[in-house]
Amino acid sequence: MNETIATDRTKRNADNLELSGKGGLEARDLHAWFGTHHALADVSLHFPERTVTGLIGPSGCGKSTFLRLLNRMHEFIPKSAMAGEVLFNGDDIYAPGVNPTEIRKRIGMVFQKPNPFPAMTIGENVLAGVKLAKIKVENKDDLMEESLTRAGLWKEVRDRLNAAGGSLSGGQQQRLCIARALAMKPEALLLDEPCSALDPISTLRVEETIVQLSETMTIVIVTHNMQQAARVSDYCAFFLSNGGPGRLVEADLTNNIFNNPRDSRTADYVQGRFG
Ligand SMILES: Nc1ncnc2c1ncn2[C@@H]1O[C@H](COP(=O)(O)OP(=O)(O)O)[C@@H](O)[C@H]1O
Ligand SMILES: [Mg+2]
Repeated sequence: MNETIATDRTKRNADNLELSGKGGLEARDLHAWFGTHHALADVSLHFPERTVTGLIGPSGCGKSTFLRLLNRMHEFIPKSAMAGEVLFNGDDIYAPGVNPTEIRKRIGMVFQKPNPFPAMTIGENVLAGVKLAKIKVENKDDLMEESLTRAGLWKEVRDRLNAAGGSLSGGQQQRLCIARALAMKPEALLLDEPCSALDPISTLRVEETIVQLSETMTIVIVTHNMQQAARVSDYCAFFLSNGGPGRLVEADLTNNIFNNPRDSRTADYVQGRFG
């Protein structure tokens, strides 16, 4: 017997959000290669504005590759290639003349392993991305406080902004990295297994942060933690590679993916029968 998995956010979504609007991020027929290795095939998926989408599937099915295609990080990798379109608020981010650096500012990314600059202070870490990108900031203290507050870390660090980033716990470091991404004022945030190195309490703190951020931005999160996907996401997308390139098996409201999926392979995966 399948157990029903409680999903927290689907109701909000189904009740309040426009599912087919033009806003947010949209992948159309995306493919990715590393040299001759076809890593990802035929992915079309819409991420509506102000929603959280969980990307799930076994290791190697192309989740990280897909995420990097969404903000033009993929092309950094030597011998990589891609095909397809990514629309951001209706505009193709791969159109000729679009500056990839500008896209990476608007679509931020947070990685699996918290990667603050350990010797820099907490405050300097928050502003590191802004400084690197040479973005002019009117009031650095305000931006620092705002970014740390939005990342759910301000109260814990406001008295020690000059301590080293490396002195924080793993969960705090990950929220510091989220604050660093938020200081760039992105319109969307891509998170690649952001909690996989964190303890359960830190994980819950980061999840609260994600849910809060989704009030104002589009969020995509890769996770291997099915409870996490159920807790934070409005939609889930299930990927599988099965020997060939990674493909999207199905995407739907999170509640449907967990409790009423269309594809039996999705049911097997979310019920923990493989992967
Ligand atoms: N930098 C890279 N160079 C060559 N192949 C890669 C690279 N990154 C990922 N791949 C390959 O692309 C496929 C998808 O990998 P990835 O996107 O990391 O999957 P996931 O994040 O779902 O575990 C895998 O076959 C992987 O070996
Ligand atoms: Mg990955």
